[in-house]
Amino acid sequence: MLAKNVVELLNQQVNKEFYSAYLYLDFSNFCYDQGLDGFGNWYRVQAQEERDHAMLFVQYLQNNGERAVLEAIEKPAVAPDSVKMVLAEGLNHERYVTSLIHNICDAAHSVKDFRTIQFLDWFVKEQGEEETNAEGLVKKFELFGDDPKSLYMLDNELGARVYSAPSLVL
Ligand code: FEO
Repeated sequence: MLAKNVVELLNQQVNKEFYSAYLYLDFSNFCYDQGLDGFGNWYRVQAQEERDHAMLFVQYLQNNGERAVLEAIEKPAVAPDSVKMVLAEGLNHERYVTSLIHNICDAAHSVKDFRTIQFLDWFVKEQGEEETNAEGLVKKFELFGDDPKSLYMLDNELGARVYSAPSLVL
């Protein structure tokens, strides 16, 4: 049986992950609207991954005899007005999500909930990768974003990202 505060945090994370999907879908829509279909594709795939993350939290709760309680998903807090802003906010958001995952780890540790710690291990690694990717995009845009030819090539590169289901199976 999971501790009450751990269940609460896992439940909140379902909402946070769906919110992440919402935020990235909004970023995707913005980028498509700007004619940057590769960036749009990148964030659409990212939104799909975030939805998968939410479903993994739902599944984990179910596997442990808990019903996930769905709350309203907030409107994206950021109104993007440039790709530069999208990339910076994407990085900020991933850092925030990392702090949430670490917070759940902390709560699980304090009640010696080793099962939840093991479940979260995949997310700790995933967040590391996502922060690295987001940092990489910010840096690339700083280097190449002002040059139309380079931006075109970067957009093409991001257009090649393909969705794949998460490697974590519960
Ligand atoms: Fe599932 Fe990148 O947070």
